[in-house]
Amino acid sequence: ADTATTRTPSAAASRPGGSLPAAVAAYFFGGAGREETLRANEAAWQRLHLLPRVLRTPAHISTQIQLLDRTWPTPWLAAPMAHLRLAHPHAETGLALASATQGAGMVLSTQATTPLEDVARAVQGEPGRGPLWFQLYPYGTRAQWQQLAQRAADAGYEALVLTVDAPVQWPQTRARAAGFALPTDWPQPNLPAPAPQGTLQSVLAAAPRWEDVAWLRANAPLPLLLKGVLHPDDARTAVDEGLCDGLIVSNHGGRVLDGLPATAAALPAIVAAVRDRVPVLVDGGLRSALDVVRALAMGARGVLIGRPLIAALADGGAQAVASLWRQWRDELGALLALCGVEQPGELHPSLLQSA
Ligand code: FNR
Repeated sequence: ADTATTRTPSAAASRPGGSLPAAVAAYFFGGAGREETLRANEAAWQRLHLLPRVLRTPAHISTQIQLLDRTWPTPWLAAPMAHLRLAHPHAETGLALASATQGAGMVLSTQATTPLEDVARAVQGEPGRGPLWFQLYPYGTRAQWQQLAQRAADAGYEALVLTVDAPVQWPQTRARAAGFALPTDWPQPNLPAPAPQGTLQSVLAAAPRWEDVAWLRANAPLPLLLKGVLHPDDARTAVDEGLCDGLIVSNHGGRVLDGLPATAAALPAIVAAVRDRVPVLVDGGLRSALDVVRALAMGARGVLIGRPLIAALADGGAQAVASLWRQWRDELGALLALCGVEQPGELHPSLLQSA
């Protein structure tokens, strides 16, 4: 991040996001339990090595992909992330606009600190932008989800992302130890209902089920992707029964249930189960354009990026996010050329070797 040096020149400030208060950094960068999954996510991508083809460098390279019937400039979107105003006053609007100018997409979190309409307005004028999706948590009543889904459609969002891997809230180890708490009167302008509280029994009773997904899919005004699927049987259920337009293989960045496999390890079985009937995307631990190439070669059609964007936002606001995406896009072009493929859609498992 190019503006990081203008902040306090302490050792902490030279780490990504290092200028944040310790408790906020613990919330953003920590995970659940002993953080096994958090660590596994990053490590698993690095165990996949590229086996490029030589002497067939394409004459032309494109970073474009096709997703939900449209062509987009890059294969990546900013993952939905809560409370970005804690990272920088540019918050969600800054992330969305910086992403749009660099051809990246954005999934806005239900727990964003900016009204979803303001974020949509910020990106819609950008001709070279990526997809604009809205993430929902299945909290509250069906009527509340429907209202929020309609609000997103009216504002110009192109798809809904239903996060299905966090029915029960779980304190995160690092954030709890650091005493993290949201400020009082914290803005949550898109949250229809707070996360279920109370006895575990009442939370369990309110937890969403497959019939709720079927209901949303039938009643939502936009295509529906499910985020947080790890088991191939769940992927098969979702696709066989026509319950979604896409799947996002995710373990919530290791923030909810610890001990889950790295998403790089879960992805191949899901790709095999889905058999190209809907697009499969993946997130978790992707830290470079090289990691994205690995994910696409395993069969993902696109990726979501989380914490690297928070670090950039914290260190230099929207400008630092834009420079991260610009650098990744340049790298992606070079990586495709070195692998001997013209575009991301041509990446293939035969270009990978596990260590
Ligand atoms: C998240 N994530 C998340 N997911 C979601 O569906 N709704 C949300 O509100 C949030 N909030 C959130 C906050 C923070 C601080 C983080 C780091 C993550 C999960 C996110 O969308 C994504 O799945 C992971 O962050 C991807 O992993 P990496 O790239 O952060 O390793």
